Amino acid sequence: MVNPRSSSSYRLLRFRFLNSPSISRLALILLGFSLFVFLLSQRQIAVFDRGPSFPEESTDLEGRLWGSASGYGYRPCVKPTRKYSAPQNQKHYLTVRSNGGLNQMRTGICDMVAVARMMNAVLVIPQLDKRSFWQDTSTFSDIFDESHFIKALESDVHIVSELPKEMESAPRARKHFTSWSSASFYEEMTQMWKDYEVIHVPKSDSRLANNDLPVDIQRLRCRAMYYALRFSNPIESLGKKLVERLKSHGPYITLHLRYEKDMLAFTGCTYGLTDTEAEELKIMRENTNHWKMKDINSTEQRLGGFCPLTPKEVSVFLHSMGYPSSTWIYVAAGEIYGGETYLSHLRSRFPNLVFKENLATVEELKEFSNHATQTAAIDYIISIESNVFVPSYTGNMARAAEGHRRFLGHRKTINPDRKGLVQLFNMLEKGELKEDANFSSLVIEMHKYRQGAPRKRYGSLPGSKGRDRFRTEESFYENPFPECICHANQH
Ligand SMILES: *[C@@H]1O[C@H](CO)[C@@H](O)[C@H](O)[C@H]1NC(C)=O
Ligand SMILES: *[C@@H]1O[C@H](CO)[C@@H](O)[C@H](O)[C@H]1NC(C)=O
Repeated sequence: MVNPRSSSSYRLLRFRFLNSPSISRLALILLGFSLFVFLLSQRQIAVFDRGPSFPEESTDLEGRLWGSASGYGYRPCVKPTRKYSAPQNQKHYLTVRSNGGLNQMRTGICDMVAVARMMNAVLVIPQLDKRSFWQDTSTFSDIFDESHFIKALESDVHIVSELPKEMESAPRARKHFTSWSSASFYEEMTQMWKDYEVIHVPKSDSRLANNDLPVDIQRLRCRAMYYALRFSNPIESLGKKLVERLKSHGPYITLHLRYEKDMLAFTGCTYGLTDTEAEELKIMRENTNHWKMKDINSTEQRLGGFCPLTPKEVSVFLHSMGYPSSTWIYVAAGEIYGGETYLSHLRSRFPNLVFKENLATVEELKEFSNHATQTAAIDYIISIESNVFVPSYTGNMARAAEGHRRFLGHRKTINPDRKGLVQLFNMLEKGELKEDANFSSLVIEMHKYRQGAPRKRYGSLPGSKGRDRFRTEESFYENPFPECICHANQH
């Protein structure tokens, strides 16, 4: 399902183009170029960092609510450059343990493909994290289509299912690569091959920089992420079935509702909860050693835009954006804190609110239950295929889904301006505003440029230094523009 046109069809297109008579080719190039310059001057395509991207193109209501305006003329570009060659002479092996939840593992795996390429190593299919919060025993091939993964990347990196028997006693190092490392770092790491034949990487998350890597490495990351790393057949097929069920009612929204107990405890967001619940979350936070922030002022946290929207806030938001109450909303989420108590407002406004448990039969879900990573993969598929994706908070899943949707043609992703919305919500609460047409236009205006239109990936926050520079950059997989998304006039 997440398979746009294959790269071979691009090759074909390009081949035909180069064979057309040279005069018309020149005319076409000139026309294309002047059109591009014209568009650039008209709309300032992606020339700003942190500047505006374009608003949605349609003015009619249906278009405004659902349209992704045909990708704005952008399309995936993942073909290697001319100087890229097939892997050769790979004698060394990279073994990897991927840590984190589903999307942290997915991005880590794709980064390790790029690292194996830069270090000219054979990549052994990564082991997956079984100890994290997710407590999932799934293996790589439970979640991903392993043979497709190996085959799809064969002209990039040699990948094997297991470390060959004869390598088991070979000199082996265990190496924590520095986070957000550059190509030159990995170039240097190849020195390790003088002493070792196998390098084991115990952590795969954020080992590779977002920016300033060779374009062929960036495109390899995209080929890995968007073509090679498909979900396993059982996951793909249930995901597709559920998408069809949803689409049979018309366009739908996927709401990534981060309103789980651990998320609220971690962020210290207790707005709208009872004192008992607030206390329960505080105790959970204090007892979780690896959460460093213990003393959090919930009010300040919320005013700063650092809290997940509550289900009630989401319902006010979607209603104000103009979505009719008949809209089908798929909720991609873990267990909602407080359950129906906190969902009731959202459900009363949007009665067609469904979870995978409502959409799939018990039988269909049986083989995936007790595997949080696999059910998250089903949520991921439904999120990518929805007409609109709305994350109530940031996170690995929200970032990965947003980037994937950008890649597939800038499908609409509405990123709520949590800081701005909280001010409006507070004014509603104090009676300074009413939920009327004026309120609605404030909300719509606030989100005009937050709908996933094409723009260049953001750099680091101004003033950030050292490691913080990397931490504040927009992540590569959140927006693989410009390396893997090109205008139709480019190639
Ligand atoms: C939390 O912050 C708010 C706003 O700054 C302030 O009014 C309130 O007194 C603070 N609460 C506590 C418990 O410190
Ligand atoms: C909306 O705002 C305008 C201008 O501030 C005002 O004249 C109008 O009465 C408001 N409409 C409603 C429904 O409150």
